[in-house]
Amino acid sequence: MSISSIWLFTLFCVIYGSVAEHHVYRNLQSVSSGSTNQPYRTAYHFQPPKNWINDPNGPLRYRGLYHLFYQYNPKGAVWGNIVWAHSVSKDLVNWTPLDPAIFPSQPSDINGCWSGSTTLLPGNKPAILYTGIDPQNQQVQNLAQPKNLSDPFLREWVKSPKNPLMAPTSANKINSSSFRDPTTAWLGKDGHWRVLVGSKRRTRGLAILYRSKDFVNWVQAKHPLHSTLGSGIWECPDFFPVLNKGTLGLDTSVIGNYVSHVLKVSLDDKKHDYYMIGSYNVAKDAFIPDNGAKEFVLRYDYGKYYASKTFFDDGKKRRILLGWVNESSSVADDIKKGWSGIHTIPRTIWLHESGKQLVQWPVVEVEKLRANPVNLPPQVLKGGQLLQINGVTATQADVEISFQVNNLREAEVLDYWTDPQILCSKKGSAVKVGLGPFGLLVFASKGLHEYTSVFFRIFKQQNKNLVLLCSDQSSSSLNKDNDLTTYGTFVDVDLLHEKLSLRTLIDHSVVESFGGEGRAVITARVYPTLAINDKAQIYAFNNGTTDVKITSLSAWSMKKAQIS
Ligand SMILES: *[C@@H]1O[C@H](CO)[C@@H](O)[C@H](O)[C@H]1NC(C)=O
Ligand SMILES: *[C@@H]1O[C@H](CO)[C@@H](O)[C@H](O)[C@H]1NC(C)=O
Ligand SMILES: *[C@@H]1O[C@H](CO)[C@@H](O)[C@H](O)[C@H]1NC(C)=O
Ligand SMILES: *[C@@H]1O[C@H](CO)[C@@H](O)[C@H](O)[C@H]1NC(C)=O
Repeated sequence: MSISSIWLFTLFCVIYGSVAEHHVYRNLQSVSSGSTNQPYRTAYHFQPPKNWINDPNGPLRYRGLYHLFYQYNPKGAVWGNIVWAHSVSKDLVNWTPLDPAIFPSQPSDINGCWSGSTTLLPGNKPAILYTGIDPQNQQVQNLAQPKNLSDPFLREWVKSPKNPLMAPTSANKINSSSFRDPTTAWLGKDGHWRVLVGSKRRTRGLAILYRSKDFVNWVQAKHPLHSTLGSGIWECPDFFPVLNKGTLGLDTSVIGNYVSHVLKVSLDDKKHDYYMIGSYNVAKDAFIPDNGAKEFVLRYDYGKYYASKTFFDDGKKRRILLGWVNESSSVADDIKKGWSGIHTIPRTIWLHESGKQLVQWPVVEVEKLRANPVNLPPQVLKGGQLLQINGVTATQADVEISFQVNNLREAEVLDYWTDPQILCSKKGSAVKVGLGPFGLLVFASKGLHEYTSVFFRIFKQQNKNLVLLCSDQSSSSLNKDNDLTTYGTFVDVDLLHEKLSLRTLIDHSVVESFGGEGRAVITARVYPTLAINDKAQIYAFNNGTTDVKITSLSAWSMKKAQIS
C-alpha cells in the first residue's frame, strides 16, 4: 500500500504519544509503504528488507553459527508490534533471515516482547531472558529455551510455563513501567546465576540484581549491583569482564585479579550508551567503579548509537559489540522509504592498555568485502588542500588514513575544558585556527554543495596536546528535515609518539568512524540529495593553515553483503 505524505503529516500530528523510550504513532504501526528509489539502503550494514528495527537482542554463537535477534515491527516503519526477529550468520557479515523467534503468545508477553539476552547454560544450552509486557502493561521478565537443541538454527523457542519469572509486586516496590532488558547471566562460585535488570527509583538509575540456582526461580538481591543518582532509567544494561592486558575476550562468568569489569547502560534521558570500568566485588555482589567515579562519562560511540549489547564469541575468543543506529530522518521520510534503523558493523571490544577506556574495531571478517584497493603514497597535505580519492565506490567504501602532525606549536590553546561536541559544532570544517581541521570529506557532491566531514583538530592544554575528533553533518544534505547534529569527542592519542589514524566505513547513509585506532568512535546517519550513487566523492582534506603529512592512505570499494 502506498500513501501520500500529506495524509501522513496530518496523521502523525494528530496521533502521537510516548511509551517507554519510543514515540508511538499508533495509526502508523501497521502501515507499510516503501518506494523503489532507495539511495539510503545500506549494502553491508545489518538491516531487514523493510520496516522498523531497534535493539540487537540475545546475540550468541551456537554450534558454529552466530545468532542475532532484534526488536522488529513486522508491519511498519515506526516502532510498534514488537517481536524478536531472527537471523543467523557464519561470519557476522552475511546473514540469513529466519522466522521471528519470540512473539506475543502468553499473558506475560501479550502486549510486547521487548529486549533481553542469551545465557549458555551447562551442556551448551541457550536460554533467553527477555522483557514481556503483560495484560496490565507491566514490564516483567520471561524465559524461553530452544525446542530442539539439535537444530543449529534454533528456529523454535519454548516459553517457560512459569513466566513471568521476575515481576514488580507491592512488596518489592519495583516501578512496573521501568523494569526491563535483562542481561546475560553469570555464574558465581556458589553455583548461583546472577542477572541484572535495568530500572530506576525516582531519578536514580539502577541495575536490579537477581539470583537463581535453577534459572527458573529468581530471588531479588537486597541491593542493586550498582546505581547512580540523577541518571534516569538504565536500559539495556550489560556487565562483563575484560582482560587487564590483551585483546582476547572472556566468558561473562570469568572473575579474577587479571580482569576488570565493565558496566554499560543505555541512558533513556540522554539517548546514549555509557560505560564505566571498575571491579566486581564478589563478596558484596557489587560493582565498584575505578577511581570512585560517581557518574557515567565514557561512551561507546559519540554519534547516533543506542541499546548495544556484547557477547562472548567462543570461536575466535573475542567479545563482540552490536548496536542499533537510529535514523536521523523524519518519520515521514522513514515511511516513504519503508524502513527505519540499522545495526553497526559488529565490533571487537577490549580494554585499552591504559586501563582507562575500551577500544573498538570492526570485526576482521568485514575486510572480506574489500575490493579494488587504492593506496596513495605518503604526502604532505597542505593547508587548504583537497585531495580526491579516486577509484573507489564513494557510497560504499572503507577508508583508512593516517596523519603525522609536526608543528605542534601551532595548536590553539584551550584554557578550560569544553564539551567536545560543542567544540566541534562551533569549530566546523570551515573554521581555520591553529592545527586542523584535517581528515576526510565523504558523501561530497561536485562543488561541495553537500558533504559530511570527519576531521581532527589539535589543541594545547597545560603543555599537553588535546586531539578532537568531529563528525560534522551540518552540510550533509540539502534536506533540512534531517537531524544534522554535529558530533565530537576527544581522542587519547600521544602525538609525540603516535600517528593519528582514522578509519571510516561508508555505506549509503552511514558514516562509521574510528579515530586513534578505535579509541574514539562516532557513527552518523546522512541523507544526501546530490551526493548519491555515482555522484558522490571522497576527499582527504586539510582546511587549516598548517601542513600535515599523510603517512598512509588506503581505500577500498566494499562489496554488498548477503543480508536480506
Ligand atoms: C531437531 O533438529 C534436527 C536438526 O535440524 C532434525 O534433524 C530433527 O528432526 C529435529 N527434531 C525434531 C523433533 O524436530
Ligand atoms: C515509574 O516510571 C514511570 C516511567 O518513567 C514514571 O512515569 C513514573 O513516575 C514512575 N513511578 C514512580 C512511582 O516512580
Ligand atoms: C531516534 O531518532 C529520532 C529522530 O532523529 C529522535 O527523535 C529519537 O530521539 C532517536 N532515538 C534514539 C534512541 O536515538
Ligand atoms: C574550508 O574553509 C573555507 C573557508 O573558511 C570554507 O569556505 C570551506 O567551506 C571549508 N571547506 C570545508 C570542506 O569545510
